[in-house]
Order: sequence, then C-alpha cells, then structure tokens
Amino acid sequence: MPDALSLDNIGELVTNDPDVPGELGIRNDVSLVVAEGRVVWIGPTAEAPPADARIDCDGAAVLPGFVDSHSHIVFAGDRSAEFAARMAGESYAAGGIRTTVAATRAADDGTLAANTQRLAAELARSGATTFEIKSGYGLTVEDERRSVAIARGITDEVTFLGAHVVPPDFTGDRNGYLDLVCGPMLDACKDSVRWIDVFCDRGAFDADESREVLRAGLRAGLTPRVHANQLQHGPGVSVAVEMGAASADHCTHLTAADVAALADSDTVATLLPGAEFSTRSAYPDARRLIDAGVTVALATDCNPGTSYTTSMSFCIALAVREMHMTVGEAVTAATVGGAAALRRDDVGRIVTGGQADLLLLDAPSYIHLAYRPGVDLISQVWARGVAVRSRP
Ligand code: NIG
Ligand code: FE
Repeated sequence: MPDALSLDNIGELVTNDPDVPGELGIRNDVSLVVAEGRVVWIGPTAEAPPADARIDCDGAAVLPGFVDSHSHIVFAGDRSAEFAARMAGESYAAGGIRTTVAATRAADDGTLAANTQRLAAELARSGATTFEIKSGYGLTVEDERRSVAIARGITDEVTFLGAHVVPPDFTGDRNGYLDLVCGPMLDACKDSVRWIDVFCDRGAFDADESREVLRAGLRAGLTPRVHANQLQHGPGVSVAVEMGAASADHCTHLTAADVAALADSDTVATLLPGAEFSTRSAYPDARRLIDAGVTVALATDCNPGTSYTTSMSFCIALAVREMHMTVGEAVTAATVGGAAALRRDDVGRIVTGGQADLLLLDAPSYIHLAYRPGVDLISQVWARGVAVRSRP
C-alpha cells in the first residue's frame, strides 16, 4: 500500500456506517489504515496489514471529522464589547451585524483573507474536516465578491448571504437593496458559491423578501438555506421548506406546524447552540424535533456577533446539557447531520473506501466530548488523509 498509515489499538471507532449495527456504528479494538486520502482497511488490530507508519492509539476513540455546516468567518473587527454589554443585561438585535459590515468593508484584502484563514485553521484544529463559510458582512457587490472568493479559496461549501441585513447605505430603500442582491451582487458571487442564504427574521428580511432572494438564487443554480426563527416565531422555517432549502438554521422558536413541515421535508434543522449561549437565550427544543423524525445538524455558527466559537466539541456539550440530546445524538448531528445539511454523503462517516477525515481523541470514548466540557480532547486530526493537527 503506498504511504499507508495504520492507526492501531483504537478502543472505540465511531463509524456512522449504517451497515455496522447500533447507534454511531461503533467498532471496538480495531486498526484503521489510511492511504492516498482514503480509509483502505478496518479490522482487528491483530490482523492489521503492514504499513509505512503506525500510531498506537492505546485504546483511545477515533471519530469521523466534524462537519460544520454553518459559519460566518469572513469578517473584520471585534464585537467583544457588545458581548460584554449583553452579559450585563442588554439584548441581542440583528442590527449589530452592521458594526461588522463597517469593519469588513474597511479591511484590505490581505487582512480579510488572513482573518478568515486564521479562523479556518482554528476550525480544522477543533476537528471540523468539512466546513461551510458564508459571506454577509460585505453587503456591496465588491465586498461580497471578495468575501466569497476568500471563502472559496478555503472550502467548496460557500454560501452567498448578501441578504443578511439591509445595510445602512440602503436605509429607506429596501427594494433597491433587494434588487442589488438579486441582480449584480448575485451575478458577482454565483460562480464561487453553492448555496444562497437569507436571514428571515425580525430586523432582517420578511417572508416575501426572503422568497425573492431564494428564487433568484435558484435561477442562478444555487440551493437555498435559511436563517430561520432565531429571534422569534415567524415564517423562516415554512419559507425554507417551501423553497426546498437544504437546511433551516437556528430553529429556536418553532410552532407545531413548523416541526411538522420539517418532518415532512428534506430540510435539515441545523441547531446552533453557541448562539443561544452567547446571547443568553432559550435553547431550541431538540427533543421535539428529533422525536418528530426531523434530521438535526449541529454547527458552530462561528461569527463575531452571536457565537464566536470554532469548537464543535463545545456545541456538542451544549446540545447534550442544554438541549437534552443524548451524546450519541449530538455526535450524529455534528457529523452525518452536518453532512445531510450540506447534502453530502461522502463525509461524516468512516467506511472502507471513504474519505479519511478522522479525529483521534485524547479519551477512550466519544462520550467524553460532552462529559469533559471545555477540555480540548482533539489529539490529532486528518482531513482527506492529511494531518491537519498532530500531537505536539
Ligand atoms: O447566525 N442571524 C444572523 N446572523 C448571525 C449573527 C450575525 C451577527 O450578529 O453578526 C447568526 O447568528
Ligand atoms: Fe448564522
């Protein structure tokens, strides 16, 4: 086998392979061999084939890399004072986005790219081997174009979020801004992106405006995703389902009809507990969604306003403690759930012949991701077989 690496003595291998019985498709006491970016062999350590290099996992757990299907990491500036004010009693409003828009517009290309690459590296070190990046802090044709270009240099999963808020230069001319988003801005961005998103909520865009944006994206060959029902009950989830969105994200305030609509659709509910944590808001009711049969994803929502974390492990711990997900459900949502939200079936699983996106934990079980909150248990990370984090 060319340049094969064998991980030996894996105590607990989370495969998410539907052909392996039981939750998470767990296999115990195995070796896993990687070559040319793929998993080429899984079996008992005693039977492991020769390899060019071997790592003794000494009973530790190995998981599929996390799939973070929602991040906003192309931005400049700092909103720590806004966070501190919120913790002192102020409430979150969508208008805070404009602070980051001003700082992002003022940043030169090199600074904006370096900021984004730093956060992308942080995501990778935290175990996200696949992640999505949104634009949405430029909100001019040129600033959105450069945002998606920077993101596209890092990931294939790029989302155009020109419809994040109406920027101050268009106050009083919402229709003018929507025309810009659906026309020249979309034209400038569409070749770099796979997805179109809209913030359908209080202080951002209403149902008709959201439909207009998503329809323009569909005409340009993009697939919708929607920031839905984060701040209040509203039309976001029903618009997402109606437009065939890959996911409705946040889903914090849901009616019974919203839950039923999601359950009857292919739209994934992406929960972002970092946002509730950082805005000190009530968490979404994950149990209600899971019990209704909705596919749930967990993602970081990494952004400077409401969730400045790159840690999927932290989101898993929050999902378990605050949203009453079992640890297995949370790990599923952070791997195959995220993959479903990105309509991918080639990531989020560890299967022979599949992409080698792997996390080696400094712990014997995936359970420790929630059991040891705030502790960095990610010991090593491989993305497509390449080490993106190694033991120091
Ligand atoms: O997903 N909800 C809209 N966008 C971000 C927040 C953006 C900001 O406050 O800068 C979110 O939470
Ligand atoms: Fe978001």
